Amino acid sequence: MNSGNFKNMSIRYLLFTKPRASNIQKRHFSEEFFWWKHLENAPPDSILGIKKIYNMDKNPNKVDLIVGAYRDANGKPVILPSVLEAEKMIEKKYTDKEYAPISGLPQFNQLSAQLLLGPDSSVLCNQLNATSQTVSGSGALYVSGKFMAQFFPGNTCIYLPQPTWANHEAIFKFVGLEVAWYRYCDPKVSKLDFEGLMDDINKIPEKSIAFFQGCAHNPTGVDPSQEQWCEISQLVKKRQLFPVFDVAYQGFASGDFYNDAFSFRTFLQDGHKVAILQSYSKSMGLYGERTGSCTFIADCKSEADTILTQMEEIIRKTYSSPPIHGSRIVVEILADENLKYMWFQEVKMMSERLKAMRNALKENLEKAGSKHNWDHIVHQIGMFCLSKLTPKQVKKLTDDYHIYLPADGRISVAGLTTKNVQYVANAIHEVTK
Ligand SMILES: Cc1ncc(COP(=O)(O)O)c(C=O)c1O
Repeated sequence: MNSGNFKNMSIRYLLFTKPRASNIQKRHFSEEFFWWKHLENAPPDSILGIKKIYNMDKNPNKVDLIVGAYRDANGKPVILPSVLEAEKMIEKKYTDKEYAPISGLPQFNQLSAQLLLGPDSSVLCNQLNATSQTVSGSGALYVSGKFMAQFFPGNTCIYLPQPTWANHEAIFKFVGLEVAWYRYCDPKVSKLDFEGLMDDINKIPEKSIAFFQGCAHNPTGVDPSQEQWCEISQLVKKRQLFPVFDVAYQGFASGDFYNDAFSFRTFLQDGHKVAILQSYSKSMGLYGERTGSCTFIADCKSEADTILTQMEEIIRKTYSSPPIHGSRIVVEILADENLKYMWFQEVKMMSERLKAMRNALKENLEKAGSKHNWDHIVHQIGMFCLSKLTPKQVKKLTDDYHIYLPADGRISVAGLTTKNVQYVANAIHEVTK
C-alpha cells in the first residue's frame, strides 16, 4: 500500500467513525446509560478472600494457615535449589521468549507424562497418551472439563468426592459439565468413608465421569489405602465409568513419586483409559509460573493424536498457548539425572517437614492439656489437615488469636513452624475447651 492510499483511508476512517462515536456517547449519556451499573460484586473466593484479610492484619502474632503453598521452617516461601539451578541453565541456553506451540513444549509433555506414568510405561511406549502443557493444574481442569463437556460420549455429569477443593465444582460447572457427589470423608469423623464411597460409586449411572484426587487429598488429607484403590478401580470398571485423576500433590503424600502414583497407575494396569491432570505448583514450587499438564489416554496412537488436536483447539480459543518459563524449568530438571535426584530429595524434605509439623501440633495440643483425640492430625497426609474445628471455633481463632484458616477448619500444615506451633496449639485448645 502506498502512503497516498493510506492517507485517504485514514481520512475516510476519521470522517466515517467520528460522528458515529459521538452519537453513541450523546445518546447513552443523555439517558444516563451506564454499561456496567447493573453489576454486583462476585462473591469473594473462599480461600483467597481470607488471605486478603490476613494481609491487612497488623498483629505481629498472626498465623497464615490458609493457602496450600509450602513454607520453610521460618514460614517463608521457598524457591527450590533445583529450580534455581535450572534457571541458571535456562539463562545460558535460551536467547528468546518466543511463543510455545499450542500444546506446549514437546519435551515438557514427554517428561511430564513419564513422571506420572513411569519411564517404562506401556502407554508411553505405544504412544497412547495425548499430553498437553496447561496453565497449571487449574488450566488442566479447565481444558479437560471443556473437552469432556464437548465430546464425552456418555453422561456429561462428573461425580466429585464430598468434600473436595472448591475450584473443582466451580471450574467443571463453568465449562458446562453437570456436577454430582459421592461420599468421601465426613469432616466430623475425619476418616475415609469407604463404605459410603463404594455405595455411591456403585449407584453412579453407567458411562458417567468419576473424579478422584490421585494422592494427598485436598482438603481432607485422607487418601484410600492401596487395597482400597484396587477395589475402587474394579468398581469403576464394573460401572463403566470414565476416571479422571487430579494430581496436584505427587510426592507430597509419601515423599516418593512412585508411591504417590499408585492410584492412577493401578487404574491403568486394570485397563482403564483415564485422564490425568498434573500440577507443578506444589511439587516444584512453581506456583506463579502456572505449569501443569493434561493427559488423556487413548485406545491407539491415532486416537491420541486426534484427542490432542481437539485439546489444542480448546487451548487456542482460550489462551492461545501456554507460558514457557515454568515448562523450561521442568525440562531442565527432569532431563538431567543429577538435578532430578536433587529435586526428589527436596520434595522428600518438604513432605518430612509437613509430617514433623503434624506431630508437633498434636504433641503441643496434648501438652496444652487438650482432652480431645487429635490422632487424625497425624493420620492425615500431605499439605492439609481437616482439623474438625467448627466454623464458630475457626472464627474465634481468627478474632481472638489472629490465626487464619478457611471456615471448614482446613489447616494448611505448611503454615506451621517450630516458632508458631505452640501458639497455634494453645489457641486451638482454648477455642475447643
Ligand atoms: C486438589 C488441587 N487440584 C488442583 C489445584 C490447582 O493448582 P494450580 O492451578 O496451582 O496448579 C490445587 C491447588 O490448590 C489443588 O489443591
